Amino acid sequence: MYEGPSPVRNGRRAFLLVSNIRGGETGNIQAFKQTEVSRVCQGRVHATIADRRELAKTALTPGELIDTSIHLDESTEPVTGQDMFALTEICHDGFIELDVRDIARMLQARPGDETESLFACADRIRKRFVGDSVHIRGIIEFSNYCVRNCLYCGLRRDNHKLSRYRMTPDEILTASQNGIQSGYRTIVLQSGEDPYYSAQDIALIVEGIKSFRDVAVTLSIGERARSEYAAMRSAGADRFLLKHETADAKLYQQLHPGASLKTRVECLQNLKSLGFQVGSGFIVGLPGQDISTIAEDIALLKLLDCDMAGIGPFIPHPDTPLASYPAGDVTMTLKALAVARQALPYANFPVTTALSTLRQDGRQLALSCGGNVIMPNITPAKYRALYEIYPDSASLKDPEDGGIREIAGMLKAIGREVSTTKGDTLPKERRSIPTVDSNNHERMR
Ligand code: 5AD
Ligand code: SF4
Repeated sequence: MYEGPSPVRNGRRAFLLVSNIRGGETGNIQAFKQTEVSRVCQGRVHATIADRRELAKTALTPGELIDTSIHLDESTEPVTGQDMFALTEICHDGFIELDVRDIARMLQARPGDETESLFACADRIRKRFVGDSVHIRGIIEFSNYCVRNCLYCGLRRDNHKLSRYRMTPDEILTASQNGIQSGYRTIVLQSGEDPYYSAQDIALIVEGIKSFRDVAVTLSIGERARSEYAAMRSAGADRFLLKHETADAKLYQQLHPGASLKTRVECLQNLKSLGFQVGSGFIVGLPGQDISTIAEDIALLKLLDCDMAGIGPFIPHPDTPLASYPAGDVTMTLKALAVARQALPYANFPVTTALSTLRQDGRQLALSCGGNVIMPNITPAKYRALYEIYPDSASLKDPEDGGIREIAGMLKAIGREVSTTKGDTLPKERRSIPTVDSNNHERMR
């Protein structure tokens, strides 16, 4: 267990979520002061309610927010265990900056109560900030050519065992049209880093998809010059996924020959400044990674103000230099997702295919730890097996339409629903702290 300073530091302004008091019961502020804070903090934290107007109230309603200042006595011991997560939630107004030490501390939740508490907290924050809707995005993997040589990936340039394919623009448009007819409102075009397609080619494909219907188009095609991203954005592309993979610059260089984290981050910043909704993300369980690396990964997502982030476990591929390394840990992946949800409460977090590959119930698990997006594979069947980033991908099992109807059934069974919107992230200027009653963002858009 990380024994550094507590996540709540002196004088931090916080909003108290009344729903947190004894699982949503109506509470009394005096009772809260005496029992809840002392229970949560075991008498080691001195808390004051700063807003006198709120203090005048006695009865509190679940969903109410009270402006508070929480003061930690520097000499007090850090809060530990389950209490920490309750405290993190109490202090979580969505804008408080969890720093890298707080994040590392949360990632070290012990098995059992602590981890359960972390997951439950992420689930409450997900519900509160982005609601129960799950966005479904159809992915088309249109080329498995790649000029890069990432040590972990089956599409790497030096993997000569792989048969390569490229879909023509017409094939991509047909697959997109089929996806739209099946009900997808976001089409994701993904490929290896393949300069064969010029920015103009991509732009024309985006325009073609946009001419079918008002859908969102997400690109996931790797690093390009800013001017190329600009051309794609002008053509109507809405979003761009470019995972940073690891926030450790040295490890990044080791795993990505000839590439640098600096360039990666510059690309992400270029995309953001061009008005794309930007997705990043990272791999959990890369050889050479530790908890502090994962904490840096989450801190970087926050620094970049990502709209989306994909967090998936490493899966060894036999035809790569990392073939003999063990797969990433599923629980650590879920913990990273749960902490990331708390650090970026408004972001979209997809269930990663890598997680579903390691665990059959990966989708349900991730949806209960902060996830709110599913990205089924709608690539034409004949190409699917060739997009082999890692072996036995769960996406090989998706039906040709991605299984959108089955997903709707599964969501209903777990009390969630398919989103009826394109699923854009809420623009920054429209973000406020939602109360329990206003957490239905479908209505707000
Ligand atoms: N295991 C898990 N994820 C991988 N990716 C690539 N190779 C692997 C692997 N062996 C992920 C990377 C990349 C995306 C296309 O797939 O995060 O961004
Ligand atoms: Fe290419 Fe992406 Fe695989 Fe790296 S991770 S080899 S860039 S497809």
